[in-house]
Amino acid sequence: TKINLDVVQASIRNIPDFPKPGIQFKDVTTAFKEPELFRFIVEETAAHYRNLGITRIVGVESRGFILGSALAYELDAGFVPVRKPGKLPAETYKQSYELEYGTDTLEMHTDALSPDDVVLIHDDLLATGGTVGATIDLVRKFGVKKIFVNFFVELDFLKGSEKIDKQVPVWSLIHF
Ligand code: PRP
Ligand code: MG
Repeated sequence: TKINLDVVQASIRNIPDFPKPGIQFKDVTTAFKEPELFRFIVEETAAHYRNLGITRIVGVESRGFILGSALAYELDAGFVPVRKPGKLPAETYKQSYELEYGTDTLEMHTDALSPDDVVLIHDDLLATGGTVGATIDLVRKFGVKKIFVNFFVELDFLKGSEKIDKQVPVWSLIHF
């Protein structure tokens, strides 16, 4: 079959009531497991960011590591992980953000980026925007000026992109 965006979108599995009642979970594993789909997703996304001088992909634990790594390879960039608390061994910057109940924290090594890096933040999915908001705040702690944000899937009805700083270009391959 000919791969196109509709085929990619149809390959994302919907799981009702996961992880709790009322949530329609978008399961990207059914897209990533197919060789032709995985290659198409990586190449289409990389094409969007070529010739921008991207030096670092910042990938968000854990589902942002999957495509983030492939994008770094494809764009000749380095890969920097944003991790959940207590996972990174050296000195870190920390940024907390609001959840529905309580807060969560993300961390990056303090030597992971330089002010002159051109950074592409990648995560698999944009929902409320809390995770990416904290990630942008983390990247700014390094004095980085040029920041782009990419998602594989954006849930438009949650309006997460409206919460992202308008200075930061956001682009997603797939929208629900
Ligand atoms: C999911 C998803 C994004 C984030 C989006 O990650 O992979 O990272 O939530 O939600 P938000 O826009 O409302 O912040 P999750 O925290 O479930 O962890 P995982 O990637 O380790 O599975
Ligand atoms: Mg995640």
